[in-house]
Formats: sequence, C-alpha cells, structure tokens
Amino acid sequence: MIQIKNLNLTFNPNATNEFKALKNINLHIPKHKLFILKGVSGSGKSTLLSLISALIKPTSGEIKVDDKLIAKLPDFHASRFRSKDIGFIFQSFNLFENLNVAENTALPLIPLKLSQQEINDKVAHAMNLANIAHKKDQTVKDLSGGEKQRCAIARALVNNPKIILCDEPTANLDRNNALAFIEVIKTLKSLEKTIVIATHDPLFESLDFIDKVINIKNGEIV
Ligand SMILES: Nc1ncnc2c1ncn2[C@@H]1O[C@H](COP(=O)(O)OP(=O)(O)OP(=O)(O)O)[C@@H](O)[C@H]1O
Ligand SMILES: [Mg+2]
Repeated sequence: MIQIKNLNLTFNPNATNEFKALKNINLHIPKHKLFILKGVSGSGKSTLLSLISALIKPTSGEIKVDDKLIAKLPDFHASRFRSKDIGFIFQSFNLFENLNVAENTALPLIPLKLSQQEINDKVAHAMNLANIAHKKDQTVKDLSGGEKQRCAIARALVNNPKIILCDEPTANLDRNNALAFIEVIKTLKSLEKTIVIATHDPLFESLDFIDKVINIKNGEIV
C-alpha cells in the first residue's frame, strides 16, 4: 500500500541552516495494517506523515501509494490524492469552531459536487463511526476536547479514505478519551483501513492489534 525507498528530506538544502530531517528511509506498510511511528520530539515523525500525504516532496528517493509515485504528482493531483485516499487526524483538531459537527464533517465533500442526499448519507455514516452523531447539531466551540477529536475523526473518514494518518492523536486527550480513540482505531482496522499513527503515548505500546512499531531517531529508522 505504502512503499518508501531511499527517502531523504533536507530542509533548506545548501543553505547555512540546512537540516537533514529524514535520512535514507526504507519502509513498506502493507494494506490493512496498523503501524506506529515512535520517536522523540524532532525525530521526523510528522515530516514522514507529510511526505506520505504528498504535502511536501522528498529531496530524493521515492514514495509509492497504491503503485502511484506520489512525490511526482503536480500540486493539483496531490491535493486530489489527499482528499480521495487520505484521512488525516491531527493533534490540534483544525476544526471550524463556529460550524457544527455535521458541517465540519461535510467539509471535505464540498469539492466533489455530490447531491445533498449523498452528502447527508456520507456525513451520517462517518459521524456514526466516530461516535459523535448524537452531537451533530452542536457548534464545535461548545464540544469537549474528546468530542472535538471525534468530530475530526468523522471529517477524516467522510470520504472513505483507504489510508488514515494520525499525528499525536491522543496528546490533547485524557485517559478515557484516549481509550475511546483506540476503540475507534480498532474499528477502522476491522474496516480494512491502512493506518499510521505517530505517537509517543505509551498507551499504544501494549495493543494487540498493532502490526509494527517503527522507531525513528534523528531522521533514521532504527
Ligand atoms: N519547514 C521546516 N524547516 C526547517 N526545519 C524543519 C521544518 N519542518 C520541520 N523541521 C525540523 O525537522 C525535524 C523533524 O520535525 P518533525 O516535526 O517531523 O518532528 P516530530 O518527530 O514530529 O516531533 P514531535 O514529536 O515534536 O512532533 C525537527 O528538528 C524540525 O525542527
Ligand atoms: Mg510531530
């Protein structure tokens, strides 16, 4: 599903502040697997997720998703690839605080020119999966932290993406909400999503449905 070969990412190449954020990364994440990216702050986890979602391009090496060479995609195709194939769940939820849950969930569908009925069906399905349907009319600014995150999950799922990328998804959650998040991930795994989670939360270390833990140190897989 995700195939990374000899990947290097250097910020500000050839400048005095040149920084090699990722060095010679080789990684294969098969379909329907759940991989954890572990490593201290600054090790390169978020950078790797940005590369997989074609938000940034590598300095050298290749990334294939579903046999598509995504590093070579022009910007327009990269954003289409993201909206179709990738669901991204961030640490800060990046929601529109003044819109309600259903409206936030529907946002990724706007460019797709669907009928209102199709939009309603997809939004209802995603909110159910994320366990937030009971708050669908509530303005996001009035949600609890855990509920905001479930709204962000609904938005990430609304396009039915094959790949779910999570960046420190439990960093702003208390233990109960973190456990609830893990249940959602378990459901997504059973729906055969390919999932990558960057985290240092020890809660993830003992889960029996994780396929592999990848350790990153100073931009290298160890
Ligand atoms: N646009 C940029 N320009 C220069 N350096 C950058 C840029 N983006 C990230 N970096 C550097 O690359 C390194 C890796 O950053 P990254 O955000 O991937 O770390 P991380 O493992 O996600 O850390 P954290 O656990 O704190 O989120 C850091 O040292 C960071 O300062
Ligand atoms: Mg990060």
